[in-house]
Amino acid sequence: MEPGKIIETLRKRESIRFFDRRPIPAPVLRDILESARLAPSAKNLQPYRFIVLFRDEWSEEFDDFMYRPGFKDAPVAVVVLAKDEDSYHRPVDHHPYAWVDASIAVTEMISAATAYGVGACWIVYLDAPRLKSVLDIPEDWDVVGIIPMGYPARGPLSGTKRKRRSFDDMFMNGRFGISLTEEEFMEKARRMESGTPDGRQDDDTD
Ligand SMILES: Cc1cc2nc3c(=O)[nH]c(=O)nc-3n(C[C@H](O)[C@H](O)[C@H](O)COP(=O)(O)O)c2cc1C
Repeated sequence: MEPGKIIETLRKRESIRFFDRRPIPAPVLRDILESARLAPSAKNLQPYRFIVLFRDEWSEEFDDFMYRPGFKDAPVAVVVLAKDEDSYHRPVDHHPYAWVDASIAVTEMISAATAYGVGACWIVYLDAPRLKSVLDIPEDWDVVGIIPMGYPARGPLSGTKRKRRSFDDMFMNGRFGISLTEEEFMEKARRMESGTPDGRQDDDTD
C-alpha cells in the first residue's frame, strides 16, 4: 500500500455511534479480525482474546451493554479481553503490558475497518463484572472494552469531528516540558534527511 493511503485512511477514522444495519461482507470482517491477530505485542505474548458477537445472536443482556441506541444497530461487536498474568512485565517495576498489547490489536482492527469504510467505536463505559458473568469470562481475564462495528448511518467516514491538541502541545523537544514546534521539527527532520546514515543495525529480538 502506498504510504499516503495509510495516512488518508487514518484521517478518515472517527468514532461511529450510529450504524446502519447493513451486514459487513464476510471477507471484510475476516480481514478486520485478521489485523488484530497480526498485531505486535510485547515479547509476542499475545495476552488478549476477542469474543465476536453477531447482532442476530446476541442476548438481550448483552444488548444492554450497547448503551447508546445507535450502538444497538451494529451488526457485529467484539469484546476485547486481556490477561495481565500472560503478558510481558517491565522488569524494573513489574508493570504489565496486557492492556497496551490489547489496545494495539484493537487499533489495528479499527484501522483495517476504516480502510474498508467500516466504522467502529470503543465502549469502555460498562459494568465489567456483569459482562463477565453474561459472557462466561473467567475471573483472570480483564474486559478492556467492546467494539461495535458496522457501516456508519450518517454518511461515509470522514474524520471531520476530530479535535486534537496542536503539534507543539503534543510533541516535546528532546526532554520533558520543552515544546517542539512544527517548524523546529521540520528543520530537524530535514537535517536528518540530508545527513548520512550511521550504518548502525537494529537488534530485532523480541
Ligand atoms: C479507550 C477508549 C475508550 C472509549 N470509550 C468510549 C465509550 O465508552 N463511549 C463512547 O461513546 N466513546 C468512547 N470512546 C471514543 C472517544 O470518545 C473518541 O475516540 C474521542 O472522542 C475522539 O473522537 P474520534 O474517535 O471520533 O476521533 C473511547 C475511545 C477510546 C480510545
